[in-house]
Amino acid sequence: MEITNRFLRACRHLPVDHTPVWFMRQAGRYMPEYRAIREKYSLLEICHQPDLAAEITLQPVHALGVDAAILFADILLPVIPLGLGLEFVKGEGPEIARPVRTLSDVRAMPPVHPEADLGYVLAAIRLLRQELDGSVPLIGFCGAPFTLASYIIEGGPSREFLTTKSMMYNAPEVFHALMARLSALLSEYIVAQIEAGAQAVQVFDSWVGTLSPQDYQTYALPYSQQVLTAAQAQNVPVIHFGTNTSTLLPLMKRAGGNVFGLDWRIPLSDGWKLVGEDVAVQGNLDPAVLFAPMDQIKTRVHEILESAGGRPGHIFNLGHGVLQHTPVENLKAVVEMVHEFEAQAVQL
Ligand code: CP3
Repeated sequence: MEITNRFLRACRHLPVDHTPVWFMRQAGRYMPEYRAIREKYSLLEICHQPDLAAEITLQPVHALGVDAAILFADILLPVIPLGLGLEFVKGEGPEIARPVRTLSDVRAMPPVHPEADLGYVLAAIRLLRQELDGSVPLIGFCGAPFTLASYIIEGGPSREFLTTKSMMYNAPEVFHALMARLSALLSEYIVAQIEAGAQAVQVFDSWVGTLSPQDYQTYALPYSQQVLTAAQAQNVPVIHFGTNTSTLLPLMKRAGGNVFGLDWRIPLSDGWKLVGEDVAVQGNLDPAVLFAPMDQIKTRVHEILESAGGRPGHIFNLGHGVLQHTPVENLKAVVEMVHEFEAQAVQL
């Protein structure tokens, strides 16, 4: 069947009328509409109520005019049915009450069945497909095994990932057992999201850039590959994202995906060479540039579009998620710049 949607075409490396654009973390605290709902409900309450999750998913679609919707959820939700205790602490981020440190901790994690245990995520997807009614595609997502494992082992965010790496080096059997459990769970979870109606999926390996290429190959690649391969077998585009990945991109390509997320630390065209021009790329404006004056934002946006050079397979995005105090009007302006740039190129 012919693919007509701009975002889905770019994911498949097909030519488009205008470069598609969406933003990681496009729903969130920088939006007044989001903050209004957050005054009444916690993040986890929102995730558990499909109508609220759907409403928030649609907020940036309406306010910004982006070319894709990303389901409002969190990569850490599977931690809940794993029985580890998840809380979001104001100003501090996620906290996992019972981090996994030993083989018996891994073995104590109960089996997780996406439909029974994370059914509220799947319900939000079904509801959103009805509400979007073909207007823009819906992206589902999960964390990659390494990034999720790092939270589960550390018990929260980390700078050095020392507890995670110590486990890799001192108790590899525990680390591998945990990664095997997570990659099986995440494979089932991402497939369930696609079956519920997600038209593309993104696998967030946000913190994988902490690994050397050698360690990536040993401790992350085989597990990411399992999740990415399971998703790709469902015939929807799979976006494989990480940050600080300049030295990992060729290995990430080997792990799988149709689209590779690039952060701003590498020029877009250099990153594209590293993953190969047979696949699509997504990125890569520094989210901090949205705090610059408008003329500078425009210059940076145009630089990225020029380095993509109208080649098929570029999806405009930030190099990482939207930051908390980002001015809404600047994001809206970027959407317009990206769409207009393509129009000018076509006229030439
Ligand atoms: O619009 C969207 O992109 C969809 C929603 C979304 C959230 N989390 C909601 C959220 C997505 C795609 C995520 C993914 C996620 N969650 C990642 C990968 C993306 C990335 O940024 O690297 C990670 C690492 C997490 C884990 C997580 N969730 C952290 C570290 C935090 C706290 C930091 C922070 O920004 O407060 C969260 C909380 C979270 N998840 C918020 C949102 C909108 C902030 C929410 C709030 O308190 O209202």
